[in-house]
This record gives sequence, C-alpha cells and structure tokens, in this order.
Amino acid sequence: MGGRPAQCKRGILKRKALLGRETPARSAEHGKLCGVQPLLAPKATKGHLSVARLSRYWYVACESRELSDKPLARTLLGTPFVLFRDAAGQAAALLDRCPHRNVPLSLGKRASSGHLECAYHGWQFDGSGLCRNVPGLVDGAPARERRCPSSRVREQEGLVWVYAELDAEPDGEPFKLGLDALDKYTTVVRSVEAEATLHATVENALDVPHTAFLHRGLFRGGERHEVRVRVRRTATSVEAEYIGEPRPNGLVGRILSPSGGVVEHWDRFFLPSVAQVEYRLGKESHFLVTALLTPIGDFRTRLTAVVAFRTPLPGKLLKPLLEPVALRIFGQDARVLKAQSENVQRFGGEEYQSSELDFLGPHVWRLLRQAERGEGGEAVVEREVSFLA
Ligand code: FES
Ligand SMILES: [Fe+2]
Repeated sequence: MGGRPAQCKRGILKRKALLGRETPARSAEHGKLCGVQPLLAPKATKGHLSVARLSRYWYVACESRELSDKPLARTLLGTPFVLFRDAAGQAAALLDRCPHRNVPLSLGKRASSGHLECAYHGWQFDGSGLCRNVPGLVDGAPARERRCPSSRVREQEGLVWVYAELDAEPDGEPFKLGLDALDKYTTVVRSVEAEATLHATVENALDVPHTAFLHRGLFRGGERHEVRVRVRRTATSVEAEYIGEPRPNGLVGRILSPSGGVVEHWDRFFLPSVAQVEYRLGKESHFLVTALLTPIGDFRTRLTAVVAFRTPLPGKLLKPLLEPVALRIFGQDARVLKAQSENVQRFGGEEYQSSELDFLGPHVWRLLRQAERGEGGEAVVEREVSFLA
C-alpha cells in the first residue's frame, strides 16, 4: 500500500508535464497505477510530441503598424510579453507582469513621459524595464531592484521581432526578408493563428502532397505528373527543389501563369521558424511567400505571411482575386491542423509513420531538436526522390 500514493502522484505529474491536461489514454494509465478499473480509452502512446522550445531565438511579435500608442499583449513560448513604444518611438518588450503587485502591464498605458505606466498604482517603466517613477514616493530615485524583466527588440522590414529569452544578450539577428531587393513587387502581409505545434505548422506550410487532396480545385488536384525533388539539409536549414513540375492545376495556377509551362519551385525551412515557398512561373510570375512562425504555446502558433509577388497582372488587380482564395486555403489548413492537434492530445502523444513523400517534416524536426539541445547540425545532406504531383 505504501508505494501506491507515490506512484499515483508521479503518474499525475508526468501526465501534466506532457500535455497539461487529462487525456483518455493517460487516464487509463493513471487508473492502472492507482489499481482501479481504467476507463475505456485508446492504448496509450509513448507520449512523444514534436515540440521544441527554442527560447534563444528571435520571433515576430507583431507588425510595426500594429504597435502604436497602446501597449500590446503578445505571448511567446508561453511567456506573456507587453510591447510598447517609448518616448523616442522605439519598440520595447517587457514581461507582462508589473513587478509591484503583478498586474498585467498591458492593461496600462504610455504615460506622457513615454514610459509604460501600470494601471494599478501607476509605477512607470522604461524600455529596458527599469522603474522610473513610483507615484507619491518622496525619494523617487529609481532603484535597481524595482525592475521588470525585458527582452531585446528589433524592428525591420515592417515587423517587430522579440528575442524570446528574457534579460539575455541575443546570439544572432532576426531573419532578413530582403524585400529591398524585390523592386516593383507587390507585398502583402497577413497574420493568422493555427492551433498546432510549430513543427506541424511548418510541415503543413511546406508539404506538397496534401495540396492535391485538401485544397483540390483551388491549388493542384486533377491529372498527376512525375516530379523530381532534391532535398538538401544544412546545419540550420533544409530545402526541397522540385524539378520538372508543370504549372499547378486549379484556380491559383491559371491566374498566375495563363500560358502554363514548367515552373521552378523551392520549399525552404530556416531555423528556428521560417517556412518559405518560392515559385517562378516562366518569365511571367515570381512568388515568394515567407511564413514567419511564432510559437505562442506548445499547440498554438502564429503565422505572419509576407507575400511578395510579380505577375503579368498588376498587383493591385491580383490582390483582391488571390486573397480570398489564399484565406480559404489557410482555413482548410487551420481546420486539419486543429484536428491533428486534438487527436494527438487525445491519444496522449504522436505516433507518426512517414513515407518518402514527407520530404521536409522529418528534417525540420531534426533541426529543431538539434537546436533545442544546442547541438551543431551535420554537414550537408542531399537526396533525390520522384513523386507524382
Ligand atoms: S501593481 Fe503595478 S503599480 Fe502596483
Ligand atoms: Fe495546405
């Protein structure tokens, strides 16, 4: 009898650490540990989740235009942040918890001093998190210990990036989109959220085989053609190059390249969370879609898509045509990702079986895992497969 409560307690702790909530599979395991009849439940998995928590990296917190006079609450890797602009208009990011009595600083406002003012007792903080004013305090000199943890911020190419590790010196700089080099391109930025892990969201964004099924009629579907794929992984990235791919069937392909022909196509992933799709359709069209992913939580990912394109049709005309189609496609992806996440949690973990057609997902997981462990990647790995697109 003596060992049972301890076993039971360990079981609960393990389960909570894994998924944060009860699942039928885990409930059955718990039942066994406690010596009671378990509820009917699917057989428990080994509890593997493709979740990597990479905190020493930069992530997009918001678009520059979203950050004005009001503080903005954003979550990175489960940590709540408040973003605001200081007196000089510089973007800043603090832990969203007032060090006085822990009220969210995002409920406050920017004071006339340019500091962020807490809504409760009015303590004011500068962009580095130092408390600059305690209203009513006679000897009001700033005290070092009255400080809110802060993170480094970079603002570039219309986006605000935050280094996810608080009070840390960044190891590198945020990803550069290189939009300056894309002269006469139309650029569109849109943000959406997926109820899925970062890994599942990256894999979905770069996965070709699902498009003919899930997005049939909108993007691909219909007659299939053999396409060669060259996959190349480096220490920090992986790329799939598609060779001999005809213009995708469906509405999107017809709009982009009315004359058909062969397309050049690359799908890329860069650590920690950039998924990029590039299409060249003849000399007519060039599309560069860069999805900058922000892990909000283990099963919630924000995707900021920066779409830069040049086509025979003027961008202004094409934008209203393509946007509803792109949003419908994303809606289909978001639904399937949510269902995938819920099922993985219902079964208490993943049990993935891959085929040769899962070109990038396993490589992306390997890169994420190596980065989380602080391991360097191997030298370049290359291989080629053929498939029917
Ligand atoms: S809780 Fe923020 S000033 Fe008191
Ligand atoms: Fe998709």
